[in-house]
Amino acid sequence: MKYAFLILLTIVLFSCNQKTDQVQVLQNRIDSLKHEIEEAYKPGFGDFMSSLQVHHGKLWFAGQNQNWELADFEIHEIEEAIEDIRKYQKDRKESQMMTMIEPSLERIEVAIDQKDPVLFKKEYIELTNTCNSCHRSTDHGFIVVKSPDGPPFSNQEFQLLDKD
Ligand code: HEC
Repeated sequence: MKYAFLILLTIVLFSCNQKTDQVQVLQNRIDSLKHEIEEAYKPGFGDFMSSLQVHHGKLWFAGQNQNWELADFEIHEIEEAIEDIRKYQKDRKESQMMTMIEPSLERIEVAIDQKDPVLFKKEYIELTNTCNSCHRSTDHGFIVVKSPDGPPFSNQEFQLLDKD
């Protein structure tokens, strides 16, 4: 009886020990995954801004050429970049402020829907002013965006080649 008890105790202790080993293995795995996530590449706030700059530039030429489908596409690219900023740059206080350009984007969309180049230009300037007003209010007033003078890329056609 005494031996049976001792054997049982040994089995219980052994399995408990095995459990703590398994917990430790899992904990190590979690720690290493956490480390991998922390080290994973994530674009910085400025990288997202450079992407905004590209789409902001392309949007202008799409509108100037009355290529409304492309203009609409560029608006969505800008919206996606804003979503990504809010998702991947949560720690930056400016990320929450990104919604300030949404009303401007919506008004440009109205101009695009109405295929109205004059309204488009007016709303585009408003959007650009909003970009700069955030730059100023976040101590980046030295970053001034404007309507572009020349197409940002020479390897993309902004004119509608086939208007059908
Ligand atoms: C809510 C605030 C905010 C808004 C809105 C905003 N920006 Fe910025 N932008 C910043 C901040 C902050 C930086 C500095 C980023 C950094 O710390 O790297 C910046 C940087 C930039 C840069 C410099 C990137 C570089 O590396 O040279 C450009 C270009 C830029 N923004 C374009 C735009 C455009 C275009 C818009 C509008 C479509 C816009 N931004 C709207 C806050 C904003």
